[in-house]
Amino acid sequence: MASWNRRKPFGVAAPAESDLPRTLSWPHLLALGVGAIVGTGILTLIGVGADRAGPAVLLSFAIAGAICACAALAYAELSTMMPAAGSAYAYSYAVLGELVAWVVGWSLILEYSLVVSTVAVGWSGYAAPLLTGIGFPVALTQGPELGGLINLPAIFIIAVVAGLLCFGTRESARLNTILVLIKIATLALFVGVALPTFDAANLHPFMPFGFAKETGPDGVARGVMAAAAIIFFAFYGFDAISTAAEEAKRPERDLAIGIIGSLLICTLIYVLVAAAAIGALPFTRFADSPEPLALILREMGQGGVARIVAIAAVIALPTVLLGFLFGQSRIFLVMARDGFLPAGLAQVSKRGTPARIVIFTAIVVAVIAGVLPIDEIAALANAGTLIAFAAVGLCLIVMRRRAPELPRPFRAPLGVLVGIGAIAGCAYLFLSLPTKTLLWCLAWNAIGLIVYLAYGRHRSLLARRA
Ligand code: ALA
Repeated sequence: MASWNRRKPFGVAAPAESDLPRTLSWPHLLALGVGAIVGTGILTLIGVGADRAGPAVLLSFAIAGAICACAALAYAELSTMMPAAGSAYAYSYAVLGELVAWVVGWSLILEYSLVVSTVAVGWSGYAAPLLTGIGFPVALTQGPELGGLINLPAIFIIAVVAGLLCFGTRESARLNTILVLIKIATLALFVGVALPTFDAANLHPFMPFGFAKETGPDGVARGVMAAAAIIFFAFYGFDAISTAAEEAKRPERDLAIGIIGSLLICTLIYVLVAAAAIGALPFTRFADSPEPLALILREMGQGGVARIVAIAAVIALPTVLLGFLFGQSRIFLVMARDGFLPAGLAQVSKRGTPARIVIFTAIVVAVIAGVLPIDEIAALANAGTLIAFAAVGLCLIVMRRRAPELPRPFRAPLGVLVGIGAIAGCAYLFLSLPTKTLLWCLAWNAIGLIVYLAYGRHRSLLARRA
């Protein structure tokens, strides 16, 4: 069989015995999901989205949410059929062949890494005003494009989370659950204060920049779809749950609960927060702010609540970092186990965590977070995620055709239509990303292809067994 078309046998893609201890049950997985989903998307990128679409960012939320719902159903079906830590990469390896699996794995590395960088910059957006208030130099809280030197708070928080993850999975999962509750309470507080002041006048004009992506003279892509392509960031994270498959106690049931449950909870929260934000102020007053929710509250004369929201964001946002740094290390681990990446990196430490990968990833993403602006990093993270989601949609369709008889602990309703929805929706969002992002994504994949041809194609376990 040609190397690009080599497939892992379906059952083998999920190892019966893994080095990772099974310590997580469904409440942990649900908390891991909500913890990874609710983050910089709703706390910070809502401002970027408002800048790109105006009040119609509400529509952008709905579109991105619907596409993620299709992807989540496909993930739930595949992850319960094949509970392997490699997530979309592992499914693609068993269903679509080695080359597609490599592209998906390489895209997941981009996604997970850049989400960590994005969220760290978002965290810094809320932390910086608190720090500069006590004399911390402003130049050390922003990257060069925004007139600063380096974003030190972003680097700091990545180091803290990486240290925690090296400590152990269960310890991290417990802390994660507490932080998730703080995060939900904070957003509830925002909604409780802002929603009662909803002024319908703030919704006019509803769609000032049109629907489809249009790049303006300032070089910024605007329109409802351009905003949806950024806001998409807010919805994912449920996919990180599938990377915990080898640590779940009852993966065949709990993964579906975690994936679908967490997306449902988060969508409900987002609808309320987005409506409260858009209704509270004309969007131009908080568009592109590094801390839009706190800014809205201050403008409403609620300085005290704004401070509480900022402090709670600073305490709770690291859950997203935890979820994605966790996911990144697991994807890396599985790709190394398959021979695609150096095996030395994949070693699991005495505490049961792949510490080397965590530390290696943390260093790379900290450098990116230290110097780049948030919207550019987020857009590129989205590009990687969209490729992975479309591949999972395709896996669902192919498996329904190729092996309809295989047992499916969770069957996605509407089946093939859900897969088509995921593929078409992700393609439209992908094309709605800024052109610069598309070029970066192309460059990343070109590098990936070279790495595959030079290393993975000959070193992969399947190649060595052939
Ligand atoms: N959905 C996650 C966030 O918004 C990545 O931070």
